[in-house]
Amino acid sequence: MKKIIIAIDGYSACGKSTTAKKVAAALNYRYIDSGAMYRAVTLYFLDQFVELTNPKAVEDALKNIEIDFRFNEKKGRSDTYLNGLNVEDEIRTMRVSQIVSQVSALPAVRRAMVAQQQRMGKQRGIVMDGRDIGTAVFPDAEVKVFMTADITIRAYRRQQELLEKGEMFDLDEIIENLKSRDYIDTHRSESPLVQAPDAYFLDTSFLTIDEQVEYVLQLATSKI
Ligand code: C5P
Repeated sequence: MKKIIIAIDGYSACGKSTTAKKVAAALNYRYIDSGAMYRAVTLYFLDQFVELTNPKAVEDALKNIEIDFRFNEKKGRSDTYLNGLNVEDEIRTMRVSQIVSQVSALPAVRRAMVAQQQRMGKQRGIVMDGRDIGTAVFPDAEVKVFMTADITIRAYRRQQELLEKGEMFDLDEIIENLKSRDYIDTHRSESPLVQAPDAYFLDTSFLTIDEQVEYVLQLATSKI
């Protein structure tokens, strides 16, 4: 059977990663959360006080960053590792969410992450979610989906996720964070968030995760 690349892009908190994970499991493909990579870089920059306005400091810091994913048997999920340390929980905190889009907008950061993501997809058989997967990382992906959803619904979903991890935030605060990330992601100079011309548009506001998974799987089956 032919191995393909499935690119799932879109706004924050639309259900991209939950859908991508399930699609990958159904096809026995590898799932890569590209947002986790930008979050790991952000965590490193925060912890090491890397000045975002200093290009040399950014370049030097990037040389010291190694990101990989390892399966966590206990939790049944793939965890993000930064320089050998499991940072899966830490990268999902608001501390990181508040600055990740500024870090991701830096051209040097994008170049480093895109190169690593392209290496990960060399063998194909991969589902990757993010903001620029179908446009910049894998413009030749066989299946491209662009997801959006109503902002309040997205914020509510994110609020529930944060609550499950013990972080409590007002809906308004989460809406502000999502809007500000969307704005930076769509307005940056390098590979901004935009729907690829050949991507299928999916509004997930009133869809269940199973319906989203089914939609992507049907697209994939037609290409395999
Ligand atoms: O997907 P997630 O919301 O975890 O991504 C966190 C942030 O990483 C996004 O808001 C965006 O700024 C950045 N990102 C990106 N390009 C990607 C994936 C994520 O710029 N391919």
